[in-house]
Amino acid sequence: MPTQPNENNRSRAVVIYFSATGNTETLAEKIAVAANADSFEILPETAYTSADLNYNDDNSRANREINGDERPAIQSLDVDFTQYDTVILGYPIWWGQCPPVVRTFLASTDLSGKTIMPFCTSGSSGINGSLGKIRELAPDSTVTDGFRGTGATTESQIASWLTQNGFTNQTNAASNTLKIQVGNTTLTATLRDNSSVTALKEFLAKSPVTIDMHDYASMEKVGSLGTTLPRNDVQTTTTFGDLILYQGNSFVIYYDTNTWDFTPLGKINNITQAELKRILGDGNVSVTISLD
Ligand SMILES: Cc1cc2nc3c(=O)[nH]c(=O)nc-3n(C[C@H](O)[C@H](O)[C@H](O)COP(=O)(O)O)c2cc1C
Repeated sequence: MPTQPNENNRSRAVVIYFSATGNTETLAEKIAVAANADSFEILPETAYTSADLNYNDDNSRANREINGDERPAIQSLDVDFTQYDTVILGYPIWWGQCPPVVRTFLASTDLSGKTIMPFCTSGSSGINGSLGKIRELAPDSTVTDGFRGTGATTESQIASWLTQNGFTNQTNAASNTLKIQVGNTTLTATLRDNSSVTALKEFLAKSPVTIDMHDYASMEKVGSLGTTLPRNDVQTTTTFGDLILYQGNSFVIYYDTNTWDFTPLGKINNITQAELKRILGDGNVSVTISLD
């Protein structure tokens, strides 16, 4: 039996990228976070040296491969593509095109029926000139509009490219687990079932959200969500680890007790009060929340 895409709560998108000098890799990492996707690198059998990449030398390896439309050997990728319906494909622009190793990947991988979302980095060229070859090598895939990024590309630029091209992270929206990144620590929380949580999931399915939180009354960290969600306020006495929506637009992490009319969103799993206080610290704290 083939593995069902949604089994084990797995993402249905995978980022596959080639990067000779690291620029595309940096962008690929950001895109993988935004799409909640696994990520794999296309590696040539023989790595490119800087001499190989010298585009001013007509006889450099990169130029010979481009001019000869070659298919240089790549290391096999340990990816089960039946688990994914979207392949987010990244590469540097070489002479306006995708590099030959990306052609090797496309020519040797069955992506029929899948959506390919191409992205690139480049010195200045756009991505459009490279899309024809991708469509030619993946004739039975849907190839969306491409995205050219740089080191300065923001989460919201990535999110709008993804959503404008019909990408919704379906697994995300079905997830009941919230990830809360605080510095190097990732906490998980179990979400409630109410219309506020449904709206929060739709919001987070587009992209993770970073919230600048401040301390309030030595019992909570609170910060603006940057959106307004429906309220389901009930009289609540909080305990440590409670996640609360305050006035529809503030996200609150409680580390102590308070009683008020709040919307409960969920609760942090498996943590002691002392641990939570240590992780959140005394003053302001920046946290990034995303769906698992
Ligand atoms: C052989 C070769 C050809 C290139 N051709 C172009 C080009 O046509 N247009 C452009 O804007 N940049 C071009 N570049 C620059 C790369 O696209 C750019 O540096 C890219 O960000 C490198 O990504 P990487 O670090 O992931 O390998 C070329 C680079 C190489 C090595």
